[in-house]
Amino acid sequence: MSNRMNRAWRLAARPTGAIKESDFRLAEEPIPVPKAGEVLVRTIYLSLDPTHRIWMSDIDQYMPPVQIDDVMRGGTIGIVEESQDPSLKRGEIVQGMWGWQEFACVPVAALRNRIAADDPTPLTAYMSVLGGTGLTAYFGLLDLGQPKAGETVVVSAAAGAVGSIVGQIAKIQGCRVVGIAGSDEKCRWLTGELGFDAAINYRRENVLDALRKHCPKGIDVDFENVGGETLDAVLTLVNNHARVVLCGLISTYNDDTQVAGPTKFANILMKRVKLQGFIITDFLKRFPEGRAQLAEWVNAGKLKYRVDLVQGLQNAPKALGKLFTGENKGKLIVQVSDEPK
Ligand SMILES: NC(=O)c1ccc[n+]([C@@H]2O[C@H](COP(=O)([O-])OP(=O)(O)OC[C@H]3O[C@@H](n4cnc5c(N)ncnc54)[C@H](OP(=O)(O)O)[C@@H]3O)[C@@H](O)[C@H]2O)c1
Repeated sequence: MSNRMNRAWRLAARPTGAIKESDFRLAEEPIPVPKAGEVLVRTIYLSLDPTHRIWMSDIDQYMPPVQIDDVMRGGTIGIVEESQDPSLKRGEIVQGMWGWQEFACVPVAALRNRIAADDPTPLTAYMSVLGGTGLTAYFGLLDLGQPKAGETVVVSAAAGAVGSIVGQIAKIQGCRVVGIAGSDEKCRWLTGELGFDAAINYRRENVLDALRKHCPKGIDVDFENVGGETLDAVLTLVNNHARVVLCGLISTYNDDTQVAGPTKFANILMKRVKLQGFIITDFLKRFPEGRAQLAEWVNAGKLKYRVDLVQGLQNAPKALGKLFTGENKGKLIVQVSDEPK
């Protein structure tokens, strides 16, 4: 091990507009040595998420921003190579947030999940449908959105990692589901394979007109991933007592100016709308419950998911941009090293 080095992406600059590769710096460093209570992990998978753009900026947010020269924060799955804690041994698979690097020393208390060696579930499922992505969809839709059978649910960024799960859970609840996505291919996937009732290509169609057509009884639940004009169109058509689940505002993340609020804000009053933001970590204690239900649906063939796997840590900064151009097809994950045989 002594001649191996650790490669880590460190934040080099705060981004302006779209993320650039030069916002990061690839450092080559000695592999750290674990202290008591820590494990040395080798990263297998790294999760790339829209929230990376938020963490890179020095703005008001739900966690401290990543500091210049810090290793970029990120969700990870890896294998224990060395353990200084009796509860974990070499070869065990663990999940955590040790960031964009090949190796890390992690306090055992900071790990989020342990995956049994004989678990037949693909590891990438723990980073997508059974990870933060699926759990965001599950708790956001069911706890905040409270959809009832027969209601109309609208999902934006619907073909993305979170959105595609939201729409399928809403179908399981017996709702009419309308997705908004950025290409005809994505829309065909939503209605063809995932069972959405309708899908709108926002790059080609007028979203308000299309929502009027596909939501003849108005909108009862909006799972909002995008914000901006999409949210304005939805707020135009909300029913009395509609719920807006504010999960994300990706259309504004690259905008460094003060982003304006919704133009249809008054409808929140007129229609007695409940609009609530949330961060998935609010539900940390209930993750086992959510994961069990999601796994049951996946195993029953009721929940499909796709993973967009990028090879090599060196490609992480470039790959991150795919989330903002819509090039990703499903949960964006970087494979940093091989899974154990
Ligand atoms: N609150 C939470 O705890 C939490 C947790 C996870 C994720 N989120 C939020 O959930 C949303 C989806 O995240 P994800 O991880 O599932 O990513 P994702 O949907 O797999 O990827 C992002 C997608 O957003 C769409 N998009 C990008 N820029 C856009 C724009 N300007 N206008 C409209 N659509 C745009 C693109 O799809 P198109 O091809 O359709 O444009 C892209 O594929 C994000 O807003 C994220 O911040 C929140």
